[in-house]
Amino acid sequence: MKEVHVELPGEVVDALVDQAYREMEASLAYARLASWADVQAYPGAARFFWKQSQDEYEHFQKFVCFLSAHDVVLAYRRMPEIPIAPTSYIDLFRIALDIEQNNTRAILNLLALAQQHAVPFAIRFLQDMVREQEEEIVRFRGYLQAVERIAREPGAILLFDVNIEKFNP
Ligand SMILES: [Fe+2]
Ligand SMILES: [Fe+2]
Repeated sequence: MKEVHVELPGEVVDALVDQAYREMEASLAYARLASWADVQAYPGAARFFWKQSQDEYEHFQKFVCFLSAHDVVLAYRRMPEIPIAPTSYIDLFRIALDIEQNNTRAILNLLALAQQHAVPFAIRFLQDMVREQEEEIVRFRGYLQAVERIAREPGAILLFDVNIEKFNP
């Protein structure tokens, strides 16, 4: 679906492709967290992180569709190894906050680049993404704080895990 026919500067295109792949990496990273949670018998966290994985996949799609609306076909890139290895329940949420913070930094850099090149439609698109990221960071801080509070009691973790969908930071 093509709405705009304005050419994007090459540097901005490259940075948008980088970001598309970063979203895909985040999707895979969350899949890894979900998989760890599943193996450790934390079904709540597993569902929660699968949902995050899906959200990141949707972000990937958003970037790819933004590019295709400007006639740019996604270039193929080999995915890097993702160096995350959760070792505890609390670790899951530390890693998740990290993922969100790194991604937000990357999108802010991308926004600065779009502003430098004065590309209004890219600026609007990225500003929306930044707003979404800011909400995510607040939410993930809430999860981490809650888990930090209960991390020393295994029973409390299991209870949190069962009720994770009801928790609303
Ligand atoms: Fe994302
Ligand atoms: Fe996210």
